[in-house]
Amino acid sequence: MKKITAFIFDLDGVIVFTDQFHYQAWKKMADRMGIHFDEAINNRLRGVSRMESLEIILENYNGVLSLEEKNALAEEKNTSYRELLHTMTPGDVSQDVRRTLEELRGRGYKLAIGSSSKNARFILEKVGLLDFFDAISDGTNITNSKPDPEVFVKAAEYLGESPQSCIVVEDAYAGVDAAKAGGMAAAAMGDAASYEKADYVLQSFSDLLKIAPENEER
Ligand code: BG6
Ligand code: MG
Repeated sequence: MKKITAFIFDLDGVIVFTDQFHYQAWKKMADRMGIHFDEAINNRLRGVSRMESLEIILENYNGVLSLEEKNALAEEKNTSYRELLHTMTPGDVSQDVRRTLEELRGRGYKLAIGSSSKNARFILEKVGLLDFFDAISDGTNITNSKPDPEVFVKAAEYLGESPQSCIVVEDAYAGVDAAKAGGMAAAAMGDAASYEKADYVLQSFSDLLKIAPENEER
């Protein structure tokens, strides 16, 4: 096994808990359209791009929509979502996450973000982490969203690391699949913690320190 030198973090549901904001914003749009939408459907949207998320929601819509109308719905959701993101502050990153990130950095690991979101930089700026990571790969630099490995492969490239040297941290099934497809190890938490394809299961974010040996041991 190759030495692990880097961690690539999903953002939504791993570093910050924006899941509820995604839910509220989609719910508002779905209610207006008379479309059934609930938490179980919301779980299927984890790691999935905005337009693919909309297609999943529209499985419960009886009419036919043009691409223009779909774009308008996605835009409507994003506007509500960003209003909610505006309320975020550095306090929205838990002490556990902050301390663990700093400890990993102190142990000499490179750290990157690998997120499907086009709002990733905005969120990182709101919580004061925009300049913290060594690389950011997000929805603005990919053509294919998770479970395609592109976002993580790009993150590894930006870091100058091989995929085999990286551990991806994910809360989504689609994200674990993406990591494995990219040749990386996957540490799963939250919703994805029960996924058998994960290489490591995290009960808390700081469990990462157990799979990240100190410098001298590496
Ligand atoms: C992912 C979320 O991080 O980003 C998905 O898990 C979301 O639920 C996707 O659909 C795209 O986000 P955005 O901010 O570009 O609409
Ligand atoms: Mg996520």
